[in-house]
Amino acid sequence: MNPPKVAVVVGSTRQARICPTIATWVAETAGGDSALHYELLDLADVDLPFLDEPRPPAHGGYVHEHTRRWSALAGSYDAFVFVLPQYNWGYPAVLKNALDFLYDEWAAKPAGIVTYGNHGGGRAAAQLQQVLTGLHMRTAPEPVLLTVLLDAAGSGDPAADLLPVLAPHAAAVRELDQALTALLS
Ligand SMILES: Cc1cc2nc3c(=O)[nH]c(=O)nc-3n(C[C@H](O)[C@H](O)[C@H](O)COP(=O)(O)O)c2cc1C
Repeated sequence: MNPPKVAVVVGSTRQARICPTIATWVAETAGGDSALHYELLDLADVDLPFLDEPRPPAHGGYVHEHTRRWSALAGSYDAFVFVLPQYNWGYPAVLKNALDFLYDEWAAKPAGIVTYGNHGGGRAAAQLQQVLTGLHMRTAPEPVLLTVLLDAAGSGDPAADLLPVLAPHAAAVRELDQALTALLS
């Protein structure tokens, strides 16, 4: 039997974003010794407009092709890890929009939260936790909060500079994998 599929959602779409580097590290760290299969799901590739369905998504009956595509993609995963920066004490609007587009596709699925920011992104994690609960997702008990205050004396290459900053958090990401594995079993 194929292992359960976990989408690691890249929750920032800014042109100069660091999110793909962090999400890739999360997928590799969580998936390294896991019974689950982790893969990236980049919201920049999904490229949704602002929510434009005529009916509330909880009522189904999507009319737009972009919504049907997003529904099929999100619906193909068994669980999600949302990786996102903290923006002004909240989480990125692009992620809220992507969540709001769908409803049944999220329900009862396990979800983990990984936030980052100068102070770990705890406020963004708390807000997202509330929304995922509203969507009836089964969230892992603890979010992973990554403090990514880069040293001004770094190399200037965010990917290279980030890895040593992320390394101390590897155990927390592996614990998240264990929590998702338990929720899926
Ligand atoms: C609009 C905006 C708001 C931000 N607000 C916060 C914040 O509230 N707390 C924090 O620690 N960092 C904040 N930051 C810093 C981000 O954590 C940092 O820029 C990070 O690289 C953003 O992730 P991204 O590059 O993947 O988009 C903010 C950055 C932006 C662009």
